[in-house]
Amino acid sequence: MSKRFLLTSFLAVLAFTGSSLAQAGCDGSPLQGYMHHIRDELRTVGSDIKSGDTQAAAEGVNKIITLFKKSREETPYLFIEENLQGAELAKKEKAFQGVIDDTIGVFESLETALKANDMAQVKTLMGKVGQERKIGHSSFKTSC
Ligand code: HEM
Repeated sequence: MSKRFLLTSFLAVLAFTGSSLAQAGCDGSPLQGYMHHIRDELRTVGSDIKSGDTQAAAEGVNKIITLFKKSREETPYLFIEENLQGAELAKKEKAFQGVIDDTIGVFESLETALKANDMAQVKTLMGKVGQERKIGHSSFKTSC
């Protein structure tokens, strides 16, 4: 067996293992877990707003802020899939954290608006939450 063949086989095995590990890293990754939790909390916030319980809604928003702060420390699976490294990875991580920070800003304003019972502002900010979600997913989420 030639050395070249051995090397190719070794690389093929590595590539295979790499992709299956990366797949496992996406399904059930901490980021995916936080995102599912955010979705569930946001649904509860929506129904609390509808039923007029702005106090409970504000508490839910506070939990969502904590979940985004945790999400900020994670790496989207897309970056692993694209095999980003070094400066390129750092640049994309920074962009990801920037959108998370904007999103946290929107939720902080939402918490303030809920505490002030400013329902017109609450409605506007819920719309902004949807926009941040769109930006975040179109830029950083792959199908996995
Ligand atoms: C604001 C409301 C948001 C909600 C309700 C939400 C919800 C979700 C849900 C339910 C998933 C899982 C999808 C699945 O399992 O197929 C997900 C995934 C994801 N979301 Fe969000 N999201 C929001 C905002 C954001 C923002 C602002 C960003 C980025 C700045 C973001 C980045 C991601 C990424 C990268 C994934 C894929 C997980 C991974 O790469 O491991 N999301 N999101």
